[in-house]
Amino acid sequence: MTEASLILVRFVSADGENVQEVQAHDGDNLLDVGQALGQPLEGTCEGQMACSTCHVIVEAEDFAKLPRASEAEEDMLDLAAAATRTSRLSCQITLKAGMDSLTVRIPSDSHNMQGI
Ligand code: FES
Repeated sequence: MTEASLILVRFVSADGENVQEVQAHDGDNLLDVGQALGQPLEGTCEGQMACSTCHVIVEAEDFAKLPRASEAEEDMLDLAAAATRTSRLSCQITLKAGMDSLTVRIPSDSHNMQGI
């Protein structure tokens, strides 16, 4: 038996070619988990809901596992490139045991702020 507090999170690249899986813990922040894996999630504003560079597209069947987005998050998502009906800001998602397993996709228009 696996530990009840572990949550399987699957990150799918924008082109669907690469899939990374990780066992996250109850209370982990989804943006932190993705960044620790080297996913292209910049999280420029560090969770202040001011950038949308942490945007992920949640698999439709997993979307209902997440608590509803706040109005501020919805407003920010309206500005996010390539946003869909199941888009979320990963910085606003705290993983909970009931979310196992969760699949999110990196938006195709991922930001590149390196300037190169
Ligand atoms: Fe900026 Fe999530 S890190 S909105």
